[in-house]
Amino acid sequence: MRSKRRGPSPVRRRTRTFRLTGGSTDRAKIDQAAAVLRDGGLVAFPTETVYGLGANALSEEAVLGIFAAKGRPSDNPLIVHLASSGDLARVARALPRAGTRLAKRFWPGPLTLILPKHPAVPLATTAGLDTVAVRVPSHPVAHQLISRAGVPIAAPSANLSGRPSLTSPSHLLRELSGRVDVILLGGDSPIGLESTVVDVTTRPPRVLRPGGLTLERVRQVLPSVRAPPLRAGFQERDRLPARSPGLRHRHYAPRARLTLFIGPTPQVWEALERRRRELVRAGVSSALLVSSESPVRGRGVWVLGSRRRPSAVARRLFSAMRDADGHGVQEMLVEGIPMRGMGLAVRERLMRAAEGRVVLVPSSRKGPKVVRNGRSRGPNRAPRVPR
Ligand code: TXA
Ligand code: MG
Repeated sequence: MRSKRRGPSPVRRRTRTFRLTGGSTDRAKIDQAAAVLRDGGLVAFPTETVYGLGANALSEEAVLGIFAAKGRPSDNPLIVHLASSGDLARVARALPRAGTRLAKRFWPGPLTLILPKHPAVPLATTAGLDTVAVRVPSHPVAHQLISRAGVPIAAPSANLSGRPSLTSPSHLLRELSGRVDVILLGGDSPIGLESTVVDVTTRPPRVLRPGGLTLERVRQVLPSVRAPPLRAGFQERDRLPARSPGLRHRHYAPRARLTLFIGPTPQVWEALERRRRELVRAGVSSALLVSSESPVRGRGVWVLGSRRRPSAVARRLFSAMRDADGHGVQEMLVEGIPMRGMGLAVRERLMRAAEGRVVLVPSSRKGPKVVRNGRSRGPNRAPRVPR
């Protein structure tokens, strides 16, 4: 269900775009962007995970600008970004032991910790919660920007609410021009999907969102950590506790109707081909997002990367969804990859983008089993072609 609690409509802004080259002129551009942040403005900037849309986390007015620019429901809290963990005391009241261990090992990096909120952080930033999400990004531009701004920076992923996150400069420009004051372009996002969110205020600590830091690596430091709930076909957002509000909302969805195919690989590839043929016969345009091992090729096929390297698939996932959308396709058929390493976060994003349209392909030739919202629709029923 989409939340109705949306903020005010976006203010039309005159956007200044700075292309960063890695050269000596970058410093001045980042300084200008930092000044805009200090003045309460909005800046889109690169991080190692995805692009962020930043504002002064300690200013309620600035933060409300983020909600308006993204069309983000006001009950979805933001992540506060710091230049270094030394600034934690400005935004969090305490750092539980589990948090200390994770921060020491993985900051700066793609890890977000849920901590008790400091009173200096306005409730607009945390959507009324008494906890605050905090991250120290490792991307040099993000680091420099936050440290030059001199204030903690609230930054959700820069995409409009509900859409796939932004990981490439061209997609970013198209989506945010006129909505923010400054866009800092720093190339493609190295990781390509968002940070791992770990709630360390509970015992045991819980992973609320799998992401750029793998569960395996979190477990090396915190063996007791609880994994995020993820089951084929369920819309997890309907069952999640109020503590992880963002996960209730529709997310990562391309414009096309996305269906995820999972099961043994040769059968998944066959099922994808079969479905593609059905759609062609029905006159429905489609895009297929597949691994490099898959024999599925031809027009409308986007190769995400090797099934053996989930991090490569993660890097391409959102930009492939947006590229395929750019061709105006009606259906997007995606090959599921193993849930090892970054594969877990890839699966979570796809499950939510699919909004329950998951085809569990059996190893036998019985035909695909379609699962919608956790209820099986019988072994032989392929998804119906929309008219
Ligand atoms: O990699 C990332 O995390 C990117 C970059 C820009 O840092 N940011 C990002 O932000 O993905 P966003 O807003 O798209 O996702 C933040 C997630 C949401 O699911 C939100 O509900 C959750 O973190 N979150 C934020 N504050 C929370 C809190 N106090 N308790 C529980 N969940 C929280
Ligand atoms: Mg987001």
